[in-house]
Amino acid sequence: MKKLLTIFSLLLLPLVTPVQAAGGYGIELKPAENNLRDQDSLQRGAILFSNYCMACHSVKYMRYNRIARDLGWTDEEVVAKMTYNQNRVVDNVMTRMLDGVAMDVMGVEPPDLSLMSRLKGTDYIYTFLTEYYQDEKGNWNNHALKGTSMPNVLEGIQRHASPEDYAQAARDISNFLEYAGEPAKLERLDLGWKVIAFLLVLLLLTYLLKKEYWRDIKH
Ligand code: HEC
Repeated sequence: MKKLLTIFSLLLLPLVTPVQAAGGYGIELKPAENNLRDQDSLQRGAILFSNYCMACHSVKYMRYNRIARDLGWTDEEVVAKMTYNQNRVVDNVMTRMLDGVAMDVMGVEPPDLSLMSRLKGTDYIYTFLTEYYQDEKGNWNNHALKGTSMPNVLEGIQRHASPEDYAQAARDISNFLEYAGEPAKLERLDLGWKVIAFLLVLLLLTYLLKKEYWRDIKH
């Protein structure tokens, strides 16, 4: 019985761990409330990402032509909007920063953001982007990542746009990064329903077949 209980509690462990992990940031994460089906938001997020993040960060597993296809742009539009025609449509989405510069300037290499949404979640990215504050000495710090070497890159929007527009910008960027983390996510979710519907129909058919086979047999 004891053994059974141990096994049972071990099975429950994966359900408990993410909750504990979420508490590990030392701050309550704010919900990003982003929506992968909102293509306008994804388009805005991609452009904001290009303007505010690509100076330091890559999303090296994405190519511009894939982004164009998924976000409803033509090949010409994507390179115009995201690279000011500086890249080819088959290029990967690489930072504009030259090798080694980040190390010299910030003492740390900005991480590639392809899988950041999978690693830390969109709520974390949204919270991180919107939790910059200035301490008494006027130095910028961040509640989600204390002492971070990333500057408050959205400061311009934070100062000059309304709080709603500022939150929306962070939401759009988080949305784009969730998309980049798994570009086929919507296809996967939509296909999932079709597969389950197919299996249900199959279940009905096999049940009817079984009844047919056993019809004349007494049991
Ligand atoms: C001036 C360069 C620079 C720009 C521009 C920049 N970042 Fe960063 N970013 C960094 C550096 C450096 C780090 C590593 C921070 C650290 O470890 O303290 C980082 C880390 C991150 C992280 C990981 C945080 C963590 O918990 O490890 C995320 C997410 C991120 N950046 C998102 C963004 C987004 C989104 C933008 C655009 C809105 C952006 N960054 C723009 C330099 C930059």
